Amino acid sequence: MTTSIATPPIATDRFRYDTFTQALHWLTLIAVAGAFVSGQLMDDMPRGAAKAQLISTHISVGLLVLTFTVLRLARRIAVPQPDPIPGAPLVQMAAKAMHLTLYLLLVIVPIAGMAMVWAKGRTVGFFGLFTLPPLIGPDRDLAHRLGEMHEIGANLILVLAGVHAAAAIVHHTMLKDGAIARMLPFGTSRHG
Ligand code: HEM
Ligand code: HEM
Repeated sequence: MTTSIATPPIATDRFRYDTFTQALHWLTLIAVAGAFVSGQLMDDMPRGAAKAQLISTHISVGLLVLTFTVLRLARRIAVPQPDPIPGAPLVQMAAKAMHLTLYLLLVIVPIAGMAMVWAKGRTVGFFGLFTLPPLIGPDRDLAHRLGEMHEIGANLILVLAGVHAAAAIVHHTMLKDGAIARMLPFGTSRHG
């Protein structure tokens, strides 16, 4: 990778994520919330057309989460990242581990969801625009195990994103280091 820190390909300051990354971060939050709420709602619904429609919306929103995450990881590799927020090495490591775990889950949960749908012998469509070719055949046991993995993973995203958001709020409001402004196009993002 030959990107130069002195002349980043896309304007970004040393203390703030670039606009594209910021947009993807908040779009991911909205899509994860949509996938989580639709997932819980459809779980309680009786079989029928309304449930089928909600499952199809859930699948499409879940695929959006995967798309945003892949774009974000590609962007992360392509452009220099802002300087880390100063802090104890252990805290910085914990933040890194949290981000890595979130990225992993944002990839694993949708893929487990997709594989589960295929293992159930159903199709994965994206808002009625196209259908993905199935990569695995029907397998009831596998579908069941993938379903459990999907559910546990989705709950983990919720818990970890909650801890992550709480950490960001503590940084921003109590440590007053402008942490949240790093993910926003406005506000003071500079820290000492
Ligand atoms: C990060 C993205 C996603 C999140 C947070 C999420 C979350 C959830 C949740 C909370 C449930 C309810 C689980 C339960 O209580 O049983 C669920 C169910 C389900 N999800 Fe997802 N999901 C995501 C992506 C996807 C994707 C991409 C697909 C398929 C392509 C998918 C397919 C399904 C299916 C078919 C169910 C119903 C399982 C069943 O009970 O039979 N999900 N999801
Ligand atoms: C589903 C919800 C969320 C997910 C999956 C998520 C995920 C992530 C990930 C993976 C990063 C690392 C970015 C990178 O360096 O590549 C990040 C950074 C960040 N997130 Fe979130 N986030 C969520 C919700 C929130 C919320 C609600 C807030 C604010 C209250 C927030 C504030 C931040 C901030 C300030 C950063 C930058 C941290 C830094 O500069 O070190 N996030 N988020």
